[in-house]
Amino acid sequence: MIKVKKRKILLLPGDGIGPEVIREVKKIIEWFNKNKSLDFEIEEDLVGGSSYDKHKTPITDEVFYKALESEAVILGAVGGSKWDNLEFSKKPERALLKLRKELKLFANLRPAICFKQLVNSSTLKPEIVSGLDIMIVRELIGGVYFGEPRGIKPIDNGERKGINTHTYTSSEIARVARVAFDLAIKRKNKVTSCEKSNVMEAGQLWKEEVQIVHDKEYNNVELSHMLADNCAMQLLRNPKQFDVIVTDNLFGDMLSDEAAMLTGSLGLLPSASLGAKDKNGNMRSMYEPVHGSAPDIAGKGIANPIASILSFSMALRYSLHLDKEADNLDLSVQKVLDDGLRTQDIFSKGNKEVSTETMGNAIIANLQK
Ligand code: IPM
Ligand code: MG
Repeated sequence: MIKVKKRKILLLPGDGIGPEVIREVKKIIEWFNKNKSLDFEIEEDLVGGSSYDKHKTPITDEVFYKALESEAVILGAVGGSKWDNLEFSKKPERALLKLRKELKLFANLRPAICFKQLVNSSTLKPEIVSGLDIMIVRELIGGVYFGEPRGIKPIDNGERKGINTHTYTSSEIARVARVAFDLAIKRKNKVTSCEKSNVMEAGQLWKEEVQIVHDKEYNNVELSHMLADNCAMQLLRNPKQFDVIVTDNLFGDMLSDEAAMLTGSLGLLPSASLGAKDKNGNMRSMYEPVHGSAPDIAGKGIANPIASILSFSMALRYSLHLDKEADNLDLSVQKVLDDGLRTQDIFSKGNKEVSTETMGNAIIANLQK
């Protein structure tokens, strides 16, 4: 096998169960290095509350520059009640938002796939969710998350006013719409764009700009527009009507949590945050499990590492151009689920309950040399 050039992967395990699940990812990267003659250079550092505890900031400049220089960042999770009372700028979540914003990761891909082995874990009826395969494309660095002005200010009568601003420009909408259309072409060729154009000007602009990109560049893709509240309802009523959903930062945050729950297994869902492609098709990127830091089960060795492992698989596919290796990893995860191995979060009778580490080892054991 030909040696490929050294590629830097930055692991940021973060808080809560982050370190436990990223430990399994690290073992998998090491497996690929050894058995596939790949040459990933792994770096690891602190982010979120664990960084705050040591450095009094949720992300140091040094870590930020490491992220800038890496081919892919794999993040575990940040946050926990321990840091809830910190001032806003010191909160663990600020590290995540800084990485997204300053690496310009404008497109957040959140697949919601109902694994056939877990169709009974969903709170919805099996016939509604079996075979479900949706891709939510969430705009990640605009909208109300970042708009100015923002803040809390005193007003008359001793009252205070909280302000956040929801803004989007045409180009911010167009670039994320293109990501959605490009993905749809490789899937079922269908995009649903969600906004609140009935009440928000920025929503109206969203709808118009997505339509313009469609008409000019992607008129072979089926496009429909849906109000975000209706989308929330349709996701429960008939989720299989969707292929790719594209939406803004805040609606994307909510709709992706909802879609994740359809699958019955938050512990299985990966995500990718991608920047703009350069001339060679490379881009900045960060990969994270959709689940959070789950402080209640941290340190117990029972967290599900699959979402993180599948996040690394997305990194192999989208950033490292190693589709075959990604297929190898995905298949291995399927095999382990077929064999009935389950961490506690997805356990049901008749299966075998295993620890984080056992799950990781089993996935490695099933990788094809
Ligand atoms: C997510 C999370 C984050 C967000 C938080 C942790 C800042 O909910 O990635 O969906 O709101 O974007
Ligand atoms: Mg969220």
